[in-house]
Amino acid sequence: MREIPCHIGFIMDGNGRWAKKRFLPRTAGHLAGLKALKKVILGCIKEGVRYVTLYCFSTENWSRPQDEVNYLMGLFSEKIMGELPFYNENGIRLLTLGDISVLPEDARKALVEAVEATSANNTITVQLAINYGGQREICQAVNRAISEGIMEITPEVIRAHFDNPEVPPADLIARSAGEKRISNFLLFDSAYSEFVFCDKLWPEWSEEDVTAVIDEYNGRVRKFGGLKQ
Ligand code: FPP
Repeated sequence: MREIPCHIGFIMDGNGRWAKKRFLPRTAGHLAGLKALKKVILGCIKEGVRYVTLYCFSTENWSRPQDEVNYLMGLFSEKIMGELPFYNENGIRLLTLGDISVLPEDARKALVEAVEATSANNTITVQLAINYGGQREICQAVNRAISEGIMEITPEVIRAHFDNPEVPPADLIARSAGEKRISNFLLFDSAYSEFVFCDKLWPEWSEEDVTAVIDEYNGRVRKFGGLKQ
């Protein structure tokens, strides 16, 4: 039987290259990337995936040119609340992952409102990783535990102190645009993830690409350090 991963993480790479190929500014690539992101969420819903994490903005992305950073912040502030019917009509519950407190006020506010406005949806949960870094996520969880007086740090304690502890570890991590690296994404929760790397640039992704990565996942044997069942 075809197995559907419960949680897929997507590293959405290649927006800049997509734009460059078309002699467009990099920002046009991010806008096209947002369109692809919506198709991919729909593909995940069709397949029955319960959790998706999208790597939207890393803790390292602040080093990009200011106009590109501003453009992405503008997408967070305008497009999510602006496209709220898409999320509500499709039963999409949004969560944020990462430290959004340092975002420009309008982006932060829009994200908080979007999480609230979609909180009753239950077809799929989509974590938007924004100002997110896997190393910082682990340190933050440890520091939260320490501040509660917890003396022994275990993997369970770390997970319990994540932003959204109810989101399970990623079964599958898919990366677009040909690079084969993790780039500080879900470092803790990828311990036993399967990885699928695709050459296609992110803005070219659609629902069928979700089916393709799930097909590839189904060719893998997951052993979690044990022996094949
Ligand atoms: C990486 O491609 C992509 C990003 C850093 C941004 C991803 C953001 C989106 C798809 C928009 C999300 C928006 C909302 C509202 C959720 P790159 O620019 O590094 O591509 P390159 O390697 O070809 O330059």
